[in-house]
Amino acid sequence: EKGGYEHFMLKEIFEQPKSVKDSMRGRINAHKGHILLGGLREYINKLTQAQRIIILGCGTSWHAGLVAEYVFEELARIPVEVEYASEFRYRNPIINEGDVVIAISQSGETADTLAAIELAKSKGAIIFGVCNVVGSSIPRATHAGAYTHAGPEIGVASTKAFTAQVTVLTMMAIVVAKTKGTISDSLYRELLYALEAIPDQIQKTLNNHSQIKYISSIFRDARNFLYLGRGYNFPVALEGALKLKEISYIHAEGYPAAEMKHGPIALIDEEMPVVFIATQDSSYEKVVSNIQEVRARKGRVIAVVTEGDKLIKQMAEFVIEIPATHEALVPLLSVIPLQLLSYYIAVMRGCNVDQPRNLAKSVTVE
Ligand code: M6R
Repeated sequence: EKGGYEHFMLKEIFEQPKSVKDSMRGRINAHKGHILLGGLREYINKLTQAQRIIILGCGTSWHAGLVAEYVFEELARIPVEVEYASEFRYRNPIINEGDVVIAISQSGETADTLAAIELAKSKGAIIFGVCNVVGSSIPRATHAGAYTHAGPEIGVASTKAFTAQVTVLTMMAIVVAKTKGTISDSLYRELLYALEAIPDQIQKTLNNHSQIKYISSIFRDARNFLYLGRGYNFPVALEGALKLKEISYIHAEGYPAAEMKHGPIALIDEEMPVVFIATQDSSYEKVVSNIQEVRARKGRVIAVVTEGDKLIKQMAEFVIEIPATHEALVPLLSVIPLQLLSYYIAVMRGCNVDQPRNLAKSVTVE
């Protein structure tokens, strides 16, 4: 059942070229310039005419929502708020006409997310679901939605569900942007081709697994980790830190890289590994300066970089390369090494990676 892998988590990490492809199958054709999400059709006007999008989720699904915030705002020019479902539901939230909600959940059974949906519905919002488990409670409670086709996720740590969620949410943003005319035809085409290339690029990233395993062996006894990224990679930093905490029980924090100087920099010494997600995008130069600041304080830098990067190679102790893609799609690649890093470290520490202590696959109670 684990398909020859030692753990479900590893199997699911390695399934991502397929699960991302499955999430796009029949929905996108770059050559023909088509993209279609059938499950949205009936309510698509609500989404394209939305004044504001509120995204709800918990844990990793909330991180996928944060990536979607950047993508929707950039491409579709709709203001987005991403809320923890558990906070939203107890806050007497303000829902105006023209607001739409997107609820994200792998299991479709998360109690807080379901309760937040019911509350938003009672205030008149139209709700879209992005869920993995077909026929689960959340898709039944929403007006419309698009399933992620990641297949069953058994490991408690969410991996392939995250990349499938980001894939589907990005497709939704592209559909809206195209309809609204907020992206040019050439950018539209470029994004479709770039999306179609992602599964092979994930495969290429996975092929680096032995290097990541080696890096894991160096840092397996660390007591803390910092994860830093900017822009589209900020949510990836949060996700990398969550993965490590959850399965290896190492304390880890994710931050937007520029926030470092507002506090976390005080933690940096020769014992602090800092994982930078430092791909060549619009915040590259700024992240490079952040790396220099960490080096100056003797922090140990592991950097996820764009293939061929020479500058960071001279500064970081370890670099992990990922293929170049459109900036908006980088999280689909940059998260992969972080999943593997947490996996190998947890295994080396003797942790039960598929069933970490104190955690359940779906949190069906408050
Ligand atoms: O099934 P859901 O996506 O609603 O679950 C949300 C969180 O409980 C989940 O992502 C959790 O944070 C994972 N264990 C993270 O790896």
